[in-house]
Amino acid sequence: MRTVLTWEAPPPRGPLPAGEVHVWRAEVDLAGHPIDALELLSPDERRRAATMQGPARARFVVGRATLRERLAAYGGIGPAEVAIAEGPTGKPEARAPAGVELSVAHSGGLVVLAFAREPVGVDVEAIRPRADVDALAARFFAASEHDAVRRAPDPLAAFLELWTVKEACLKATGAGLAGLATVAVSLAPGGPAVSVAGGGAWTAKTFCPAPGYVAAVVHRAR
Ligand SMILES: CC(C)(COP(=O)(O)OP(=O)(O)OC[C@H]1O[C@@H](n2cnc3c(N)ncnc32)[C@H](O)[C@@H]1OP(=O)(O)O)[C@@H](O)C(=O)NCCC(=O)NCCS
Repeated sequence: MRTVLTWEAPPPRGPLPAGEVHVWRAEVDLAGHPIDALELLSPDERRRAATMQGPARARFVVGRATLRERLAAYGGIGPAEVAIAEGPTGKPEARAPAGVELSVAHSGGLVVLAFAREPVGVDVEAIRPRADVDALAARFFAASEHDAVRRAPDPLAAFLELWTVKEACLKATGAGLAGLATVAVSLAPGGPAVSVAGGGAWTAKTFCPAPGYVAAVVHRAR
């Protein structure tokens, strides 16, 4: 599978080509009220947004509005015709248009979305200094992954790479945190490698969606 990352203007409306993974980003104005974006949401999403406050609400609204715009463009339908269901573990799934797998992530002032015809997951983290890297690695990572963080010349960078790849993988499988032990990640100069209990050919890529952020996209080849 060839993975190409470029940031381009939106292509004309049209179906998502087989074998491609599309990654989109949207900036969130954390001080603003995304009223235009709110209008694109379904009644359920608006109800959910009403339970949130501040930056979390802004991220959710911009994320769902961008998700609907992109799905509408892939399906050649209007944003209001887009139907998104939630799987048993909370994984969002597109019912209309059909045949498009998706994933959403937000952090700080950024939303990142990924689309493919096969299972796909994305995660993004704002980079900030943190004192709890070792404790978090001990808690969430396998011993070999924790070791890789400890031995890395830049433990925070190694931690964030492992974290975003793992999260992206858990979103791609839909397992959520319950599947933490089913995903193994190794870091290598050529890029991270992922293996998932149950098999499948998975590819992982980390990238910088904007200065100050790290992100990962994980995709299962057909
Ligand atoms: C829910 C979870 C999938 C990600 O949550 P998060 O890191 O708090 O938030 P993110 O912004 O990265 O992702 C949120 C999006 O994940 C999606 N999502 C939720 N549950 C999902 C699931 N089971 N599978 C796939 N995607 C899921 C939703 O689209 C959500 O966006 P929405 O609010 O617009 O609907 C889950 O992995 C989690 O709770 N993580 C907490 C962090 C953690 O402990 N990570 C340790 C692993 S290294």
